[in-house]
Amino acid sequence: MGMYVPGLEGVPVVESKICTIDVEKRRIIIRGKSLEKLARENSFEEVAYLLLFGRMPDSDELKEFSKQLAAYRTVPEEVVSVLKDLHSNVHPMDAIRTGVSALAPYDPDLEDISVEANRRKAVRILSKVGLLVGNVDNILSGRGWIDPPEGLNHSDTILTLIKGRVGEEWMSKAFETLLILYVEHELAASTFTARVIASTLADMYGAVVGAISALKGPLHGGANEKATEIFEYDVEGAEKYVREKLARKERIMGFGHRVYRGGIDPRAALVKEILEDVCRKIGDDRLYRVGDHVERLMEREKNLYPNLDFYAAALYKLMGIPPRLYTPIFVASRTAGWAAHVIEQQADNRLFRPRAIYKGPVEG
Ligand code: COA
Repeated sequence: MGMYVPGLEGVPVVESKICTIDVEKRRIIIRGKSLEKLARENSFEEVAYLLLFGRMPDSDELKEFSKQLAAYRTVPEEVVSVLKDLHSNVHPMDAIRTGVSALAPYDPDLEDISVEANRRKAVRILSKVGLLVGNVDNILSGRGWIDPPEGLNHSDTILTLIKGRVGEEWMSKAFETLLILYVEHELAASTFTARVIASTLADMYGAVVGAISALKGPLHGGANEKATEIFEYDVEGAEKYVREKLARKERIMGFGHRVYRGGIDPRAALVKEILEDVCRKIGDDRLYRVGDHVERLMEREKNLYPNLDFYAAALYKLMGIPPRLYTPIFVASRTAGWAAHVIEQQADNRLFRPRAIYKGPVEG
């Protein structure tokens, strides 16, 4: 048996043409392109197309892709009923996970895992997941299902359903940038989960359901919901909060990363820049000052740096989005990345089947 590496740290487990993290240069590369540049210059639809089809769309392809996303933006009445019947305490992530599972039998390509069918499924799932994410709080809070407004892109549809109105220009732009930054990050735990499920030749819905389950955990996507706690405080209160938590040996959510060590996550650096800009525009820089102060404090005390979830939490707070929707919004974006990995895995598959080092008893 090979060497045991806890948490598979640094262990390559796939060959992929989708994404790589250049740790030295603090760059994330998606299909050859810089994620930071994509986030600054492109739409979410363009980046999702790039992930799913392996290249940027031309203008006709983009139009067609956007048209398809819009056309699939419906959910069967039966699936809406399932969501309405869930326990009132259900977390939105669990409701969305259930919703994706319930959608599976309606997909005519469910069992076909060819690249073409998987791409068709990917577009449907991405579109419908956006609708579920936009509506989950409407359903769980009793406001009821709201049909998506026509003529909006993926990002604005979700934001509008969450806010109950079209967001201001800065909000719409910042929200889409966050969606792009969240869209793909190599072999994060949820993506690895999706690939493991796909490697059994199970269908893409199952892989996405598994990925959503993995994403919910506070060490992964769930961190952005928890990271928001710090931003309830002023600078002094936030420092006290951090010091007390560290004294109790608790983790500060939104800090640290398995891959980036000794420096800021490049996605967090861009979101910090946007946060500063938005704070200036609205004439209230409390959240920026708190974030910057905690960043310096964590660097001094722990040599730990913010990841994307830290500054994203501040930006979502400024948008007035409820914290329990932060991780679902991550789902509405990362679904494109998960789907790209499922397509790649099933196009050239080998079952994942590692070994365990047995530490238990052997009788007889
Ligand atoms: N706050 C306080 N201490 C932290 C920390 C944090 N956010 N992240 C790591 N540490 C500490 C650990 O307690 C550990 O200390 P120890 O050696 O004294 O026990 C050390 O740093 C190494 O932690 P470890 O869990 O082994 O590192 P990892 O590479 O497995 O952790 C994360 C990566 C992301 C799981 C971790 O940094 C974390 O829990 N961060 C908070 C959750 C989060 O923001 N997740 C989103 C990631 S994008």
